[in-house]
Amino acid sequence: MSAHGDPIPMTAHPSGPLSGTAEVPGDKSISHRSLILGAMAVGETKITGLLEGQDVLDTAKAMRAFGAEVTQHGPGAWSVHGVGTGGFAEPEDVIDCGNSGTGVRLIMGAMATTPITATFTGDASLRGRPMGRITDPLALFGTQAVGRAQGRLPMTLVGAADPVPVQYTVPVPSAQVKSAVLLAGLNAPGQTVVIEAEATRDHSERMLRGFGAELSVEATPEGNNVITLTGQPELKPQTIVVPRDPSSAAFPVAVGLIVPGSDVLVPGIGLNPTRAGLYTTLQEMGADLVFENMREEGGEPVADLRARFSDGMQGIEVPPERAPSMIDEYPILSVIAAYAHGKTVMRGVKELRVKESDRIDAMARGLEACGVTIEEEEDVLIVHGMGPGGVPGGATCASHLDHRIAMSFLCCGLAAKSPISVDDGGPIATSFPIFEPLMTALGATLERTGS
Ligand code: S3P
Repeated sequence: MSAHGDPIPMTAHPSGPLSGTAEVPGDKSISHRSLILGAMAVGETKITGLLEGQDVLDTAKAMRAFGAEVTQHGPGAWSVHGVGTGGFAEPEDVIDCGNSGTGVRLIMGAMATTPITATFTGDASLRGRPMGRITDPLALFGTQAVGRAQGRLPMTLVGAADPVPVQYTVPVPSAQVKSAVLLAGLNAPGQTVVIEAEATRDHSERMLRGFGAELSVEATPEGNNVITLTGQPELKPQTIVVPRDPSSAAFPVAVGLIVPGSDVLVPGIGLNPTRAGLYTTLQEMGADLVFENMREEGGEPVADLRARFSDGMQGIEVPPERAPSMIDEYPILSVIAAYAHGKTVMRGVKELRVKESDRIDAMARGLEACGVTIEEEEDVLIVHGMGPGGVPGGATCASHLDHRIAMSFLCCGLAAKSPISVDDGGPIATSFPIFEPLMTALGATLERTGS
């Protein structure tokens, strides 16, 4: 079943060459944060380029439930009339975050230090994901949480009436955990300190500063990041231009590289170094990937990416310390690796097991069904490349309510010997609602195969 409806079985047929310009939607991480920080500022935040995927629409709905005025003015053009830090109203009903771990975790942080009670739920995927990683640090502020066994949703949070600032070392590399603590720290007096051993995406830090919060980041000699936020600022409304999402760009880039004869331009992609690990990896593999027109937009580095068919890509060992900067890109990297020569070894990837699905298992089983040899351990995924055009395909893969799994197998099918199907393409709408028309415009043959 897709996140919000009946399953949509889809099939990708061997296609190509693929060519043209692929204008992918706005960045999902920045879109969630624009709405949430906009709701916590006093006055009107204006946003252009907002991702109108289901995940972000669910966050917009949640911000309305907490009392902010959220309005769509045109495609990607939104405004948020915020209620101020600590100004959230108590929602009248359960907050349904659909498929979105980022949405629910950031919103839990944002309400945790306001004396209101809110109950959160989501779809079957989100109800299976761990929330203890969020509620543990929120408890240090004085927030109470009651959920199902093992910290699963549905879950009720009672915000701290008298929050205290917190010092917290994030135990897993997670921007969602870091961001939830920082958002909670906004309404605690004094300084909240978050320490992370591995740098994760830093959109929250950049945007909090942009909204006028006092926030410093210090790198220690041991390699930790110490982030210090001064609580109870008055956040000032912003004008935000959301860059295009590098995680969505990965799909048209991938097909540009693996479908013979292809030449695909993906313009205006955010290339924040905490997000760009896939592109470094692809260059190391020998991909014909060119960064054109490097520039800065809205405080984020941006470039146009040009990806051309690359028949000489070699498998590599992806350094484990790179994982946080490409955590959402391993599914599509494992597809690209299947079309490279030799073995691609991905270590330090166990966080993939608690994403929208267990992504190591989902990719391993699906690629095996397509005829690719895979090795898998708790923290490791190894793909044995079959070279350009080498993947047999001819399988139906389970997408497990996971947009990135569905898109990865459909991309795989465009370059395989035989078509590849997914049981449900519905979840694609959570992050990349225009995936189907965009790929079709490049020359891909995608078909909805259900009745
Ligand atoms: C996100 C952080 C990542 C990523 C997710 C978006 C964010 O999750 O997988 O898609 O916007 O903060 P973790 O921080 O849990 O690794």
